[in-house]
Amino acid sequence: MMMMMMGTMMTGLLLPLAGAAVLAAAVLLVLGSIAFDASHAEVPPGLERPARLRLLHASRVGTAVLGRIAENLHICTQIQFVRFLRSRRRLGGDAGLLFREAKFKEVPVAIYQPKAPSAGQRRGVLYLHGGGWVLGSIRTHDNICRYIARESESVVVSVEYRLAPEHTYPAPLNDCLAAATQFLEAAEDYGVDKTRVAIAGDSAGGNLAAAVCQALAGRPGLARVRAQVLLYPVLQGADFNLPSYQQNRAVPLLFRERAAFYYLQYVNGSASFLGDVLEGAHVPAKLQLQHRKWLSAENLPKEFKARGYRPSVPTACEDDAYEAVKALSTPACSPLLADDAVLRLLPETFLLTCEYDVLRDDGLLYKKRLEENGVKVTWCHVAHGFHGIISFFGSFPSGKKGLEDVVTFVKSL
Ligand SMILES: *[C@@H]1O[C@H](CO)[C@@H](O)[C@H](O)[C@H]1NC(C)=O
Repeated sequence: MMMMMMGTMMTGLLLPLAGAAVLAAAVLLVLGSIAFDASHAEVPPGLERPARLRLLHASRVGTAVLGRIAENLHICTQIQFVRFLRSRRRLGGDAGLLFREAKFKEVPVAIYQPKAPSAGQRRGVLYLHGGGWVLGSIRTHDNICRYIARESESVVVSVEYRLAPEHTYPAPLNDCLAAATQFLEAAEDYGVDKTRVAIAGDSAGGNLAAAVCQALAGRPGLARVRAQVLLYPVLQGADFNLPSYQQNRAVPLLFRERAAFYYLQYVNGSASFLGDVLEGAHVPAKLQLQHRKWLSAENLPKEFKARGYRPSVPTACEDDAYEAVKALSTPACSPLLADDAVLRLLPETFLLTCEYDVLRDDGLLYKKRLEENGVKVTWCHVAHGFHGIISFFGSFPSGKKGLEDVVTFVKSL
């Protein structure tokens, strides 16, 4: 009897104790990982609001660690966990805008239309969200779309394209193309002048926007896209050793390895060849030679090499890596590598780059190529900015300024 009572008491005490211990271990693990990762992050002194950025980064790392735990417990995958947490935002609450969801050729979209009466047809902006082709949704970019619609008095259509790794290239691009085509065809139904439609996107969305504009350039029977708006776009997957990749390799919110990781999710649905891709061992010598005239650090203004740059030694190509990810160095995935004949047909461009961003040089090199092909480029360089800053325009003045520049550009169309 005595033994049994003791036993019950023990379990009564032990269970909560065990629970508390597991919880404490989990908290320690998360905090430890955040500290570990934060100690690897580099926040150069030139960045705006560095403490705020560190906090933002720590919360991202914390989410990723919790997602990893959820995955190990077979609750869901890490990616599903992160998507879920980021998509809790409510959509479309804006007194000045009419909001609705629809489908453009089977692709879900969100439409933001200014309520105020308009003298004539409005401008249109097709918006493709960022998130490495893996994360992001119309919800994560609702604030940006509302801002552009409201401030530029334009109709904004935000596209819920399918995501990797479940849906690899070309599915996400095809969704964006379908939505763009539908918007250009049916613009008038939304009070939009079909000759004044811009295609915009940030990060991976900027990659999709650039690819859509190239695909539609010169397409007969469709209104010409009026402009492309590229916000720190991903423009090439052939060289991850450009000066900006070296200088900003560990600057939040996008580390060099992470950029390549996302690209591989997009083209292959896995990151098996990450090591090869980072070294450039996924591009055959013949292609490397062909790319050199567009991808070389020689094409960058001197000031962008001042923070340090070591020319990378050419690596021998690994055939299996090339086979698995060869889409990566085609223009549909790497718009920077398109022929002059395609670039010449592109519309006027707004390009935003951030100094502390691995993707800075993708943007700078595309700017050079566009200008050489007679395309007018309005360039906004955010000198104190990091990758993703526009999404935090409420707390980073440079992000706000960048978004205001987008609005000014759209209003000029
Ligand atoms: C990714 O690469 C592997 C290895 O080459 C290949 O078997 C697989 O089919 C590729 N997946 C996609 C979606 O291309």
